[in-house]
Amino acid sequence: MAKQRTSWRCQQCGYSAPKWLGRCFDCGEYGTFVEEAEEAVSAVTARAAPRTPVALGDVSASAAERTPTGIPEFDRVLGGGLVQGSLVLLAGEPGIGKSTLLLQAAASLGKSGSRVLYVCGEESAEQVKLRAGRIGADEGISLLPETDIAIVEVTALAERPGLLIVDSIQAMADPELAGVPGSVGQVRACAARLMRVAKHENVTVLLVGHITKEGVIAGPRVLEHLVDTVLSFEGDRDHTLRIVRATKNRFGSVSEIGIFEMEEDGLRAVAQPSGALLSGRTEDVAGSCVMVALEGSRPILVEVQALVTPSYLQMPRRLATGIDTARVLQVLAVLERRAGLAFGQHDVYVSVAGGVRIAEPGIDLPLALALASARTDRPVPSDMVAFGELGLTGELRAVRQVESRLREATRLGFRTAVFAPGRSGAIPEGIIVMQPRLVGDALTGVGVLG
Ligand code: TYD
Ligand code: MG
Repeated sequence: MAKQRTSWRCQQCGYSAPKWLGRCFDCGEYGTFVEEAEEAVSAVTARAAPRTPVALGDVSASAAERTPTGIPEFDRVLGGGLVQGSLVLLAGEPGIGKSTLLLQAAASLGKSGSRVLYVCGEESAEQVKLRAGRIGADEGISLLPETDIAIVEVTALAERPGLLIVDSIQAMADPELAGVPGSVGQVRACAARLMRVAKHENVTVLLVGHITKEGVIAGPRVLEHLVDTVLSFEGDRDHTLRIVRATKNRFGSVSEIGIFEMEEDGLRAVAQPSGALLSGRTEDVAGSCVMVALEGSRPILVEVQALVTPSYLQMPRRLATGIDTARVLQVLAVLERRAGLAFGQHDVYVSVAGGVRIAEPGIDLPLALALASARTDRPVPSDMVAFGELGLTGELRAVRQVESRLREATRLGFRTAVFAPGRSGAIPEGIIVMQPRLVGDALTGVGVLG
């Protein structure tokens, strides 16, 4: 077969060149050239015929048809199930459990009579069989060990499965393109083909994409705009807790998360996430504060930990796990300026226990309490929870859904809650609330500052 004509295009500015270039002549960016299949413009224009646009008023918008996967935690993130004909990307670090989750979903769909075609590009059919045995799943799944995207495409069109799983997009390759599997050009070309299968043939497609710690090299980033839904699989490989989060969803909200635990026989939904996240907490030690975070519609309790030690470095160290470092720096500055706590001669380590990542602003106050407590060596009472955003002037700002956060804290036996003044809804029985206006008042009220 004749090689398709290709050209190299700068992903930054769109400049096209017949050969690969290290630096774009046009915009000056480095390493942005990607090979793309080229179609003669005349052929494209010759094919095009005008179409009549549809009046928006005439469009009937029926709710998208969803198939629940049968794994409620997974469906929650998807917004109720897989939408027919959608293209979903599940991205995560290697070894985090992507194949395990998808095999479980495939098995559960298979049991309910759906036909699932599982393309295993990385593992042999025997390896997949071994894993399936481990998680007790082998009904209704057809395996296709293949890395040639053209074969995957025609097989999918011939088989017309209810769900096509491609594990992983980095293992696939278009033989008509140069470039090794996993290169940006290959990944994009393969994904574009699978998108055609999804959109034109109405086959639901689930792609696995590997990311590195930096989230770049292997390519899911370049797919984000192409697919309908991006799910990211997070967690620490050394912990058992795994979180699936939607970072983009054309068919649902992006705020819900699914919480799993990796067990010997696959992933299991965590029924009581707060309990799981708080297990192993040592009470009455300085540098720890429990926070009620809101993930989607669900309040969960997590422990924010801080360690503050005298520094022997010229530039004291600031290290944050599970929290944005910029947020930590800002809270440190507020504490220094508004509460008179100096950290300039101290190394500061902050983490959210259990390997979860908290992005909501409500973490400011518990973070401030943990940091101050670590600095003064006075513990935050162990039956206390906190949440709230801190302004630069040291004022506490209200966060949403105070009532449901308080209910979750009460349910888990916490007796005191500190949060911003303002509307709070009904206060559940059995919990004492403190609503200081300023961070300094919060610190003295809690007793971490004399
Ligand atoms: P896997 O799904 O292969 O990861 P990915 O596809 O994201 O690369 O899972 C990898 C890890 O999960 C591996 O280290 C073994 C572990 N694991 C379990 O602990 N229990 C199980 O039941 C399975 C199938 C895997
Ligand atoms: Mg895998």
